[in-house]
Amino acid sequence: MCASPLAEHPHRLPPALLVPRAATRRRQLAVGLIGPGRVGTALLEQLRAAQPRLARHSGLELRLCGVVASKRMWLDCDDAELNGRHGGAQVWRPNDLDAFAAHVRGNEGRDALLIDCSANEAVAECYPAWLAAGIHVVTPNKLAGSGPLARWQAIRAACAGGGARFRYEATVCAGLPVVQTLRDLLDTGDELLAVEGMFSGTLAWLCNRHDGQHPFSTLVREAHALGYTEPDPRDDLSGTDVARKLVILAREAGWPLSMEEVDLHSLVPPALAALPLDAFMQRLDEMDAPMAAKLAEARAEGGVLRHVAHLDRHGRASVRLAVLPAGHAFAHTRLTDNVVQFSTRRYCDNPLLVQGPGAGPEVTAAGVFGDLLRIAESLGVRP
Ligand SMILES: NC(=O)c1ccc[n+]([C@@H]2O[C@H](COP(=O)([O-])OP(=O)(O)OC[C@H]3O[C@@H](n4cnc5c(N)ncnc54)[C@H](OP(=O)(O)O)[C@@H]3O)[C@@H](O)[C@H]2O)c1
Repeated sequence: MCASPLAEHPHRLPPALLVPRAATRRRQLAVGLIGPGRVGTALLEQLRAAQPRLARHSGLELRLCGVVASKRMWLDCDDAELNGRHGGAQVWRPNDLDAFAAHVRGNEGRDALLIDCSANEAVAECYPAWLAAGIHVVTPNKLAGSGPLARWQAIRAACAGGGARFRYEATVCAGLPVVQTLRDLLDTGDELLAVEGMFSGTLAWLCNRHDGQHPFSTLVREAHALGYTEPDPRDDLSGTDVARKLVILAREAGWPLSMEEVDLHSLVPPALAALPLDAFMQRLDEMDAPMAAKLAEARAEGGVLRHVAHLDRHGRASVRLAVLPAGHAFAHTRLTDNVVQFSTRRYCDNPLLVQGPGAGPEVTAAGVFGDLLRIAESLGVRP
């Protein structure tokens, strides 16, 4: 075995590491956070912790200029007159997204970035105007990437026209590098043949645990109690969220897919779909027989049940409970893991897999933070 020269001389560093980083350009990025909820709060903590390191090592100064929630906002320049009209608050004032964006952008042509950590349609509706005004946008909110195609195209056009950037890695699998991986494949000249994935941690967990020992409704109640499901478990069981992620990836690949075109098979029986939440939870055991039948079908074929999203090279998209062979890569996922499989011209015999936890405030916030750093890098800062 060759001994490393560094092992003999631990004090000696390779020449590249001895180059001083003083040449790094100092740059300030004005940041506004929309939605200080679970992800937004985790992100604020991560930004706060990273600020000194980023300033020291890469010259990037992140300047948090404001935070806006659903009803109120905080701006760093306080307006006494406005505060006087709202209960004498010193720092909070009513939510006004236009005023918020204008404040973060400032008047002196600085680099400005808005982070949307809401799940709000009205916020997504603002992206084209913000981007056209030169404000970068980063988000884990799926509504723009999977919403009306015309708005998506307006966002693209605004980016192309003004140079502002829109990044949304965390919309698909939180902190997992899925959108960037696809982008890199395409940018380096590869051709996408198919995407297959398990995009719902909740449904992955339910499928992993659904082994016939317990009725499906018991597992859903357990997942609900553990906080794995949305407050209304039908938001997971319907597959809508998974379909949104598939649409985002399809559009990233250049295919103009819309939600209506996804062949979406909801697990929620039609009779339960429109009930109030309490009534739905009470009648949850109506899902047991159909789910037991699906499990029996899978076992008869020697396979496993998995909730799978699929997109082929012709832009055909489906989301359904599928029977997969026991040797399939998705048969061995753990807990709430997400997994995405890209089949491309280069990765065709053995597709490229990205796998790991695909939800949770901290990993989602980290995905958003990574997008912010890539934008900072494009502004001339080396993170
Ligand atoms: N949690 C995860 O693991 C995860 C994973 C991947 C992606 N995401 C996505 O990340 C986003 C945030 O998720 P979350 O779990 O953090 O949600 P959350 O805890 O419900 O927080 C949402 C935040 O958005 C704010 N908001 C709602 N409408 C607004 C408006 N019109 N203007 C400004 N702020 C508004 C809310 O304000 P109030 O505080 O006033 O209600 C709240 O602070 C969502 O798009 C979600 O789909 C989440």
